[in-house]
This record gives sequence, structure tokens and C-alpha cells, in this order.
Amino acid sequence: MPDAAGTALLELSGVTKSFGRVVVADNLSLRLGAGDIVGIVGPNGAGKTSLFGLIAGDLAPESGVIRLGGAEVTRLDPAARCRLGIGRTYQVPRPFGGMTVFENVLVAVQQGAGLRRRASYAAAVGVLDRTGLSGEANSPAERLGLLQRKRLELARALASGPRLLLLDEVAGGLTDLEVEQLIGVVRSIRTEGIAIIWIEHVVRALTAAVERLLCLAGGSFVGDGTPAAVLADPAVREVFLGTEVTTSLSGPPAAESGREGA
Ligand SMILES: Nc1ncnc2c1ncn2[C@@H]1O[C@H](COP(=O)(O)OP(=O)(O)OP(=O)(O)O)[C@@H](O)[C@H]1O
Ligand SMILES: [Mg+2]
Repeated sequence: MPDAAGTALLELSGVTKSFGRVVVADNLSLRLGAGDIVGIVGPNGAGKTSLFGLIAGDLAPESGVIRLGGAEVTRLDPAARCRLGIGRTYQVPRPFGGMTVFENVLVAVQQGAGLRRRASYAAAVGVLDRTGLSGEANSPAERLGLLQRKRLELARALASGPRLLLLDEVAGGLTDLEVEQLIGVVRSIRTEGIAIIWIEHVVRALTAAVERLLCLAGGSFVGDGTPAAVLADPAVREVFLGTEVTTSLSGPPAAESGREGA
């Protein structure tokens, strides 16, 4: 929730973005408080990844305002927003090739969190430990399997020292056990007061971790409330639940879109 002074950690007001005739954000407004954890579901092509692009600065809105901690960030580039505390993962993992897992995380610690030398090494080791990647520290990043690549995305986002962490389908394609492990990692991040927005088709993972769920369709929010209320909402069921949703950990894994996220 917003703090007593009414300042939200993240605030979007009237944010609009289109690609040609496809409206990915249609006058979107959203408020998130420090330490909030929010899930986003919605059909393929709803605009979920684009919303992260708008928040993180990869996409510029046509209109509307985005604020972080009360300060406007609408026109800041992704690196500046990262330094202000917005960390994101990409739906299709994007590790730096030609570097080890440790080096990938170290770059994020140094560029995002601004740490240097021994402090940065210690922070990188800590992030690898928390994300279950310590055993892969010296592996070339491009040789990782899917679970480890998803973990490295999370590790790099976390290494930048975010106040707000944007997770884009980090559970897609993982086994039930791997999803359970991931939920544990997300919960532990949350206990540190980092706010999280988690886009996920594996609905079971969201309902286990979030308190508030939003459903995005056609660039608009069609549901906003507790996960149980949103998933039971007829408007949400109409736009979303008919699609390739994995509501149970024993169900088939959600497919990767294969398309590069915004
Ligand atoms: N850079 C871009 N240029 C043109 N069109 C784009 C671009 N990025 C996204 N789109 C289009 O915008 C729409 C929303 O895409 P987006 O990736 O935000 O959806 P999504 O909700 O994340 O979908 P998914 O569940 O498949 O990941 C889609 O029709 C997509 O093809
Ligand atoms: Mg997406």
C-alpha cells in the first residue's frame, strides 16, 4: 500500500502505448506501495511484457506519466531507471555471452547497484547464493539450461539492488519442483521489502506468492483484487481462462512465447 504520506512506490497515470493499430497500454493507471507483491495474468499479446517495457524504460509511452517514489521517470532511459531501483527480467533470458555466470551478476551489481571491487564481489556471491546459482558461478552463461537461465535473469535483476522487481514469466517451462523452488526464492526476496510485479502464465505460482492479482487484456486491466476474487471474476474468465493457462503445478508447463520481450 502507499505510505502514510500517500506516495506510491510506483505510479502509472493514464499511460498509453500502441504499436500501429495494436493498443498495448490503453490509458493504464496503477499504484503500488513499497514491498507490495502483485501478479499479472492475461492472454498472449495482452500487453503484459510491454507494460514492463514502459515501466523499465525500454518503451516510451505516447501519453501518461510514470513515477517512482513520487519522482517522474517517464523520460528516463532504462539504465537511469535501473539505478533508481527498477530491476527487470526478460521473458526470453538475455545473459551476456562470453561471460561466466559470476561475471554476468557482477556487471549487474557494478552497473545497477553501483558497488565496486570487494563490495561488488561479495554482493555478487550473495546474489548467486540466494538464487541457487553458486554451483554454476564459473560456468559460461550461454551453456546454462532453462532453469538456470531463468535463475540468472532473476539474479541479474536482483543484483542491481532494486526497490521494484519486475518478473516476466520466470516460471514458464519449469518442472513443478523447480517452480516450488522459484516461489521460495521470490518469497524470500519479498521479505526484504522489495516490491514485486510478477507476470506469469503459471497461475498456481502466482496464487502461492502474491496478495493482489491484475488481469490485463487488450492493454486494459479487467480485474484487480485478491487472486481468488480475480480468477472467479466472469470478465477475467472470459478473456483469460480459456487460454493456455497452467492453474496446477501438475498441469503442462506454459509454453515459451519464443518472441523477444520488449
Ligand atoms: N516492439 C514491438 N513492435 C511491434 N509490436 C509489438 C512490439 N512489442 C510487442 N508488440 C505487439 O504488442 C502486443 C502485446 O505484446 P506483449 O509482448 O506486450 O504481450 P504479452 O501480454 O507479454 O504476451 P505473452 O503472454 O505472449 O508474453 C502483441 O500483439 C505484440 O505482437
Ligand atoms: Mg510477454
